[in-house]
Amino acid sequence: MPLVGPREMFAAAYTGQYAVGAFNVNNMEIVQGIMRAASEEKSPVILQVSAGARKYAGQAYIMKLVEAALSEDPTVPVVVHLDHGPSFEMCRDCIDGGFTSVMIDGSHLSYEENVALTKKVVDYAHARNVWVEAELGKLAGVEEHVQSDEHVYTDPDQAVDFVGKTGCDSLAIAIGTSHGAYKFKGDAKLDFERLEVISGKLPGYPLVLHGASSVPQDIVALCNNYGGQVGGAKGVPEEMLRKAAVMGVCKINVDTDIRLALTASIRRFMTECPDQFDPRSYLTPARDAVKNMVKHKIHNVMGSSGKA
Ligand code: G3H
Ligand code: 13P
Ligand code: ZN
Repeated sequence: MPLVGPREMFAAAYTGQYAVGAFNVNNMEIVQGIMRAASEEKSPVILQVSAGARKYAGQAYIMKLVEAALSEDPTVPVVVHLDHGPSFEMCRDCIDGGFTSVMIDGSHLSYEENVALTKKVVDYAHARNVWVEAELGKLAGVEEHVQSDEHVYTDPDQAVDFVGKTGCDSLAIAIGTSHGAYKFKGDAKLDFERLEVISGKLPGYPLVLHGASSVPQDIVALCNNYGGQVGGAKGVPEEMLRKAAVMGVCKINVDTDIRLALTASIRRFMTECPDQFDPRSYLTPARDAVKNMVKHKIHNVMGSSGKA
């Protein structure tokens, strides 16, 4: 199956009250781990590429890896998506390079600037049949983020205005998640009332949740037991993500949990087998750790098993 856009994927997810997992890819082992998981779970999947991943691997390499991944299982629908596109130019390069979906992240700009930049990307993308995700509201790190500080959260009326003015196809919203491994100082809390209002005002419209890793404590412990120093890490509980998936959230982004799974596996191997130095010896279990993590996400968090 060739690469697809997210339209049918999200329409089915919205109706079926599940989400499609968007997993960050940076190298071959991660692409293979994710694809094998999607194939075993018979699930649609989004492979997303950040500006950093593009810089690390190179867009041409990533696209060839994605191309190769498609042949692993032609029955799995795959979207390739630019994650947090920082500029019109990067979105344009990805669109021209074969991405079927791009995110333009103008969330740090003023409202008017975010509208103008998003609209510019939408005009370019839609002329080429490419999907556009935008972001409204700010996901702050736990350092800056004060849970009661509402102004970083997405304003529901502004979301409606933003979608109308820009024509963006999906919208990333801020309801209390944040990127990385340190999401909450105290108890995990998401603003579900806000999510309900936003999805009520935008019926049928696909919303996106960034910063949605759950930071599994067994994986953190594995990392730390083998020399890691990932202290006080906390993620979004899985039941909260399942709840979001039945409230209009069609795409759930996961990167940190993949990083943790991969690194924990390599740390363990390095400690247990200090005499080994063939990269394949530690990248093989690391790739399996990615696969198992993604299978778990698809099955227990996204609810997208069997939806391919
Ligand atoms: O949201 C950010 C993703 O986790 C990508 O991270 O920019 O370090 O590749 P990165
Ligand atoms: P996590 O850091 O929670 O995995 O979020 C990833 C993300 O939102 C990528 O855009
Ligand atoms: Zn993100």
